Amino acid sequence: MNKKYYITTPIYYPSANFHIGHCYTTIIADAIARYKRLSGYDVFFLTGTDEHGQKIQKKAEESNVSPQEYVDKIVENAKDLWKSLDISYDKFIRTTDKEHVEVVQKIFKKLYDQGDIYKGEYKGKYCTPCESFWTETQLIDGKCPDCGREVNEVSEEAYFFKLSKYQDRLVDYIENHPNFIQPQSRKNEMINNFIKPGLEDLCVSRTSFNWGVPVSFDDKHVVYVWLDALSNYITALGYLTKDDTLFKKYWPADLHIVGKEIVRFHTIIWPIMLMALGLELPKQVYGHGWLVINGGKISKSLGNYKDPRDYIKEYGVDAVRYFALREVPFGNDGNFSEDLLINRTNSDLANILGNLVNRTIGMSIKYFNGIVSNKEEKEDIDNDLINYAVKLKNKVDTNMDNLEISVALDNIFELFRKCNKYIDDTMPWVLYKDPNNYDRLSTILYNLIESIRIGAVLLQPFLPSTANKIFFQINTKQVAFDTLTKFGLYENNNHLNNPEVLFQRINMK
Ligand code: MSP
Repeated sequence: MNKKYYITTPIYYPSANFHIGHCYTTIIADAIARYKRLSGYDVFFLTGTDEHGQKIQKKAEESNVSPQEYVDKIVENAKDLWKSLDISYDKFIRTTDKEHVEVVQKIFKKLYDQGDIYKGEYKGKYCTPCESFWTETQLIDGKCPDCGREVNEVSEEAYFFKLSKYQDRLVDYIENHPNFIQPQSRKNEMINNFIKPGLEDLCVSRTSFNWGVPVSFDDKHVVYVWLDALSNYITALGYLTKDDTLFKKYWPADLHIVGKEIVRFHTIIWPIMLMALGLELPKQVYGHGWLVINGGKISKSLGNYKDPRDYIKEYGVDAVRYFALREVPFGNDGNFSEDLLINRTNSDLANILGNLVNRTIGMSIKYFNGIVSNKEEKEDIDNDLINYAVKLKNKVDTNMDNLEISVALDNIFELFRKCNKYIDDTMPWVLYKDPNNYDRLSTILYNLIESIRIGAVLLQPFLPSTANKIFFQINTKQVAFDTLTKFGLYENNNHLNNPEVLFQRINMK
């Protein structure tokens, strides 16, 4: 039986204004999910929308529609964005789904019945845009430490979740499971800045607005959105329902990929909820960095970005995916601009990859009418290329396991760079002048097409549509990952299709 792999993105606040930063988590998660599928894992890839809370209620009021109408309309925007980015999720969960709401109510009741949730009075600060509670000492200049905006004083009857009771168990768990929070820097930040200073019990219900999951036994309260939202990772699998087959099969999650600002929720509140429910903890929470513009936030109010679909229309979906996957070492913050996107597309996709495929197919058609034949013994110069190609899968595997995604992609592009150099060194156009060289020339072109095939097979998770275009142009059916350990599986004496430009060079704006 195949090994299972359960990967999630955060569920997104529904929005009409997604930007390239929002696409970042999901593109990365998609590449990992596809990589695991091609490696033979039985993958479940979850994404969705986080639709409750005061922020959404306010927006709906401003647009004069009910919150449900507001989210129903806008959720399509997320689905459309993921479609345009070729995101291969297995399930899209909405926190307004009836099944989700019912299970959140059951979870809340269970925690209440066992004494982990109790009733009290909340007095403190609340940041509505972040849906976060803060204590006076956590504020910076009286403002939200995460987003720098004004916080409100709230004082209301509320239910509390006994985080404090689980503090020691959580610290033990994190210390004994070094991979649980990654990268390491985020783990240190969580332990030193948030957990060790002491966890306070968390306010987990609100009464001053009603757009949320009602507490089943006290319906003037709605469940705190983060408790509601985090539960999606298990409600999506049918936890506490009649049919919990998926839950039994896929839980615990192998990887929650989240942006750095929400690592706190995923490594404190979420594991404590799971401990209280007696469930296993996810194997890893990875907190990635942000895409920024000139070092600062991508922001609607600054108007410094376009809808990601505009870039896709202009440069192609794989240019956008490639930028997100390659430009920034995973884990760090990195700059985004249209010029950087164009530069990356030109330097790697057009110059290295596009050019290689185009000129190799062009030469094969010109010299041998597009027939690719492996004729001669290999020479040293061939073996250098072949050795790199057959070892590539292992290298990429290791880097993908360590979530060094940008390095993994660079490993693949190193093969394409080596192919370009192999063309320069073997000079097929010189060999073509003498018919005595035709067997050698044919073998050189075979080696190139086979290397392109190997590179394209590995590119599938990252640039699915480009990989398919290459398979079509070189006319191969050898596209599975298990064709990667041997050089020479490209169908001998096969006929190529006509080359088509994969990436046009783009003029800088
Ligand atoms: N709804 C919560 C998550 C609940 S999960 C139980 C949320 N939603 S969000 O829409 O604000 O963010 C979704 C994802 O987009 C997060 O991983 C966030 O870090 C990511 N990004 C939003 N802006 C970003 C950048 N500028 N750069 C990279 N990722 C960023 O948080």
